Amino acid sequence: MIMDPYDRYELMVNGMVVQTPIVLASMAGVVDAEYALARSENAGMVCIGGYSIDDATMAASRSLVEAGREEFLPDDPVAEIRAQAQALMESGLVVAVNMRGSTPASFAAVAGAIGPSIVYEIDAHCRQEPMIAAGCGEALLHDTAALMETVRALKKEGVTVSVKIRAGVAEDDRALARALWQAGADILHIDLMDFGHTKLRQIRNACPLVLIANNSITSFLVAKDMLAHGADMVSLARHADPATLASLNRSIAEYADETGWYNAPKQLCRGGDIRSLTFCCMPVKKCPLLPVLDTLGISRNEFMSLKLDGVKNTPLQGGENTCFGSLAWCCKSSTPCMFRNMALKEAGLSLPDYMRYKRRLSEKLMKRVFDGDLFYATE
Ligand SMILES: Cc1cc2nc3c(=O)[nH]c(=O)nc-3n(C[C@H](O)[C@H](O)[C@H](O)COP(=O)(O)O)c2cc1C
Ligand code: SF4
Ligand code: SF4
Repeated sequence: MIMDPYDRYELMVNGMVVQTPIVLASMAGVVDAEYALARSENAGMVCIGGYSIDDATMAASRSLVEAGREEFLPDDPVAEIRAQAQALMESGLVVAVNMRGSTPASFAAVAGAIGPSIVYEIDAHCRQEPMIAAGCGEALLHDTAALMETVRALKKEGVTVSVKIRAGVAEDDRALARALWQAGADILHIDLMDFGHTKLRQIRNACPLVLIANNSITSFLVAKDMLAHGADMVSLARHADPATLASLNRSIAEYADETGWYNAPKQLCRGGDIRSLTFCCMPVKKCPLLPVLDTLGISRNEFMSLKLDGVKNTPLQGGENTCFGSLAWCCKSSTPCMFRNMALKEAGLSLPDYMRYKRRLSEKLMKRVFDGDLFYATE
């Protein structure tokens, strides 16, 4: 069966359906339209660049080139970014441009000139000395006021904003994620370094942004681990060779079709992020659910109503012979259970469809978690 990409992933970025949750991460001097077109069959989004967009950062790029690094160094960055984006118009890829700028105004000027058809990614990641001295890259993870101002300046142009960070550099990545969300950012692109999924889960539990997990995603197993701990997409730079991308794309698609929810979290008691509340039991026993509800400021009664209201008039409302009398409380499909499966059969629901409804329920629960006035989520 040929599956429509929207039905498969239900993922939209910048108003476009993402064909596959695989992102081509930027590499200065390397990732441009030609590079992306050669990989577009097995990617959903590309971050072209990084491009240095003002005098200070272009000077930094020149000194990096002198030191032997590759950099894009067009005379007119705006014209070049526009031309590269134009060449990708028909590619089916969501296009983002990764930029290094020394002031918020520099970023806003590029967005003002090119408009909302592409995503604008702030490079708060580069750790090359000349870039840091120009006030961009990693410098923005120490001067978070400047980073927030940059996000706000871009948002004023009415565009979709991504922020590329390296984990473990800012004082507190969770606080950073929340501040970026509150400043209006749409996407957080995280180089997880060696922190792995624990860091990703913390960030997932702190904000509702679209998350791209990056660093050493070389196989489906690694990608799946990221997707199960909160990533909406995974990105590749050094290993974005066509064979790796093709194999990842194939496996992620198979997994999505088999399970019905390509980035379903693990259950909470197995280390899942808070999206997994959708799989939690009725709050009647001592288990990790109760402390999590406490931290979220959600009482047991409210949780009961949230789950039951969330499945009202959906096939998950039924299931009277399951442990807690409704599929709202039932476990993830990877946990075998005869009672749930019988209820699904009665309702005429396949396991992947069950997971699609669980995803809907999770989205409703997350809306409450992140719309609430409570400041903090959990580990
Ligand atoms: C040669 C090279 C150039 C890079 N240039 C940029 C850049 O301009 N902007 C940026 O945000 N990240 C840049 N990165 C970081 C990558 O996008 C990515 O975060 C990092 O390589 C880790 O992911 P990987 O394991 O998939 O390579 C660069 C990485 C490499 C290897
Ligand atoms: S409520 Fe159930 S699924 Fe959730 S943490 Fe407790 S035992 Fe695990
Ligand atoms: S009926 Fe099965 S799936 Fe549902 S809560 Fe009980 S053990 Fe979990």
